[in-house]
Amino acid sequence: MAATTTGLGLIGAGGSFGTFIESALKDVEGATLVAVADVNEKALARAKQELKVDKAYSDWQKLADDQQVQVVIVASPPFTQYEIAHGILQRSKALFLEKPGSVHLDDLLALVDLQRSKQTPASIDYVMRWNPLLDIVRQVHQGGWLGALRSVQFVNYAQDEVLPPEHWFWNREKSGGIFIEHGVHFFDLYGELAGTPPKEVVATRSIRDSAAPGGRVDQVDCAVLHDDGVLCAYFHAFNRPKAVERQQALLAFDRGFITVHGWVADAVDVDGWVDRAAADALTGLQHLTQQSVQPFDKDLHGRDVTWHADRRVTLHFSLPYDRDESYRRQVANGLNDLIKRVRNPEHRQKVTLTDALRSLAVACVATGTATIDQARDIYARYTPDGR
Ligand SMILES: NC(=O)c1ccc[n+]([C@@H]2O[C@H](COP(=O)([O-])OP(=O)(O)OC[C@H]3O[C@@H](n4cnc5c(N)ncnc54)[C@H](O)[C@@H]3O)[C@@H](O)[C@H]2O)c1
Repeated sequence: MAATTTGLGLIGAGGSFGTFIESALKDVEGATLVAVADVNEKALARAKQELKVDKAYSDWQKLADDQQVQVVIVASPPFTQYEIAHGILQRSKALFLEKPGSVHLDDLLALVDLQRSKQTPASIDYVMRWNPLLDIVRQVHQGGWLGALRSVQFVNYAQDEVLPPEHWFWNREKSGGIFIEHGVHFFDLYGELAGTPPKEVVATRSIRDSAAPGGRVDQVDCAVLHDDGVLCAYFHAFNRPKAVERQQALLAFDRGFITVHGWVADAVDVDGWVDRAAADALTGLQHLTQQSVQPFDKDLHGRDVTWHADRRVTLHFSLPYDRDESYRRQVANGLNDLIKRVRNPEHRQKVTLTDALRSLAVACVATGTATIDQARDIYARYTPDGR
């Protein structure tokens, strides 16, 4: 390993995320995977071979103590993440933590406090933060070309083909449940867009059968009302074949809509009734692959306000590569951002453990394991600052 190369270690290497990481590492600059760890001996042996590393540990602490390892990726299941992440931060090693980071809000809070007090570089794998199409969504929102954002409706119809009844995913003590295990991605993404703290969270769920303690919950739904009135709804179902999956978010603005297709977004549609300047700005955005801009010229009235629209725009944005490639690049970007901070303490990261904490707080309220006052307290005290 050259002196300038950052040594990476991967804990939970034998799992589905571990198997995938090799392809993402191709785009991680100046870093080499030097060690893996997994409690499952068979999975560890397979990972050692597939990931082509010399060092394989069945005890994560040995990997954490390895002098060659400077950045540790924790990809073990949610219920194991806090203890491991805590051990990594105590050793002052940089941490790339899989979501949710912990199934308990208090634990993640303790982790963030430790990380902040030691100023150790750390990040959470919120892949969607790195999708260029979601940057388009942010730009449209910030540019104000469609007016104000009023609501988000997100639906996730996900597969359970690889989730047999005995999988840890269904055991809420191990996964935290759907809002915590998976929903955090979306509380993070759309909560950040909504821009103000959550004020009210109302949730419900369906129980499929009793195959997990307390019942196997396979559908959850919740609405998050933000301080400025933006209302975000999140539905998740894990009950279908992979071929029948669908994810979609509909963002309603005063002057139009954005539709985001896929959870690893592969297309974004913008549908607007706008003025000429907004039409020009929107059609100047990157990744625009189809467009229709028609004269409109009408006064429109809604929400007690009248405005003039002189363009009707329908725009389609997409990437020149598929979802798998997009996902791979997103994970690589997350790792690159963390490694930049390791090399340059002044670098401000795009995603930190503070983002993980805020979204987990909302997920815990939706799950019924935290109160809205606890979540609001976290939003008041923990502001993401790239560190
Ligand atoms: N960010 C994303 O998009 C994304 C995608 C997939 C998975 N994940 C997350 O990654 C984590 C793992 O998910 P998965 O599907 O790969 O799970 P998995 O069950 O397939 O793999 C987990 C691996 O961790 C190992 N393990 C368990 N306890 C351990 C311990 N104490 N020390 C070391 N190894 C241990 C297991 O033996 C297994 O090989 C979850 O938190 C999941 O949410 C995130």
